[in-house]
Amino acid sequence: MIVVDNLSNSNADVIDSIEKVSGVRPAFEKLDCCDYQALEGVFAKYQGIKGIIHFAASKAVGESVEKPLLYYRNNVLSLINVLELMSKYGVEGIIFSSSCTVYGQPDQLPVTEEAPIKKAESPYGNTKQINEEIIRDTVASGAPIHAILLRYFNPIGAHPTALLGELPNGVPQNLVPYLTQTAIGIREKLSVFGDDYDTPDGSCIRDFINVVDLAKAHVVAMHRILDKKQKDKVEVFNIGTGRGVSVLELINGFEKATGVKLNYQIVGRRAGDIEKVWANPDLANNELGWKAEETLEDTLRSAWNWQLKLRERGVQ
Ligand code: UD1
Repeated sequence: MIVVDNLSNSNADVIDSIEKVSGVRPAFEKLDCCDYQALEGVFAKYQGIKGIIHFAASKAVGESVEKPLLYYRNNVLSLINVLELMSKYGVEGIIFSSSCTVYGQPDQLPVTEEAPIKKAESPYGNTKQINEEIIRDTVASGAPIHAILLRYFNPIGAHPTALLGELPNGVPQNLVPYLTQTAIGIREKLSVFGDDYDTPDGSCIRDFINVVDLAKAHVVAMHRILDKKQKDKVEVFNIGTGRGVSVLELINGFEKATGVKLNYQIVGRRAGDIEKVWANPDLANNELGWKAEETLEDTLRSAWNWQLKLRERGVQ
């Protein structure tokens, strides 16, 4: 296994943690996937790569509105480089990190893969839509590539050993890292963005998917490609639990799971937020043979244990 990362939003220590958790030490190449020549060096050095999981992308919705070109360059160019080099070096499989953001506010819930793609709310969301199209067009052109697009819902939590988790740069934009940083005292208060939505408790609803469950979906998807089990050369799967949980329910769940009281306040809506979205994961369950297994409580406990571990290590 080879990990390629420019470390713009991560840390090389992660390689040690991957080895501890999996028993396998991946090779590591520090480079930017937007750098074609450097990336070609990896394909040339490690002959016989069979499949690629393309995670590398920027993912902050707000930042993408402020710096659209950064997002288009980073997210689109890196994929183009990967696809060109796959064809050149005969690499067959790609799994692409897509997002439920491609659905916008779906007309029907839970949302299936058949739901129409709505106009993207942000440049970030647009890069996911464009990248899905780039992959489809490339495969349709006859390139010997097989692809699985995984549409992630809201990944949260950490590895149960607390050896792997997320470490946002600066102030977290996402709910759970902000929540755990508040619980540990780094942030004073969590702001809940809106309690006047058309939902049972007024706060937004999301489908929070455990990050280890999410990781497992990639393993299954890669086997499906390499074992030639695909029904189409490009397949799309929702990766979610199928359960919608509101922001206030999640806060409650965190307090119950950890016994830690959270300081939070209701504030106004955040621009661009979707009111409610959760997955119909039937296709992933039945066709891919993958299912979310972890409970929300265990997942929130894992996020908290990770935050505690960061403090223990003096990181945050
Ligand atoms: C967004 C993107 C998603 C992307 C993810 C990664 C959309 C529709 N979704 O997810 O594709 O993968 O970012 O960055 O573009 N909240 C608070 N207080 C906070 C933070 C969040 O109340 O301090 C609320 C939000 O209003 C939202 C929910 O928590 O209702 C989840 O927010 P967040 O974690 O930022 O993820 P999304 O916006 O759902």
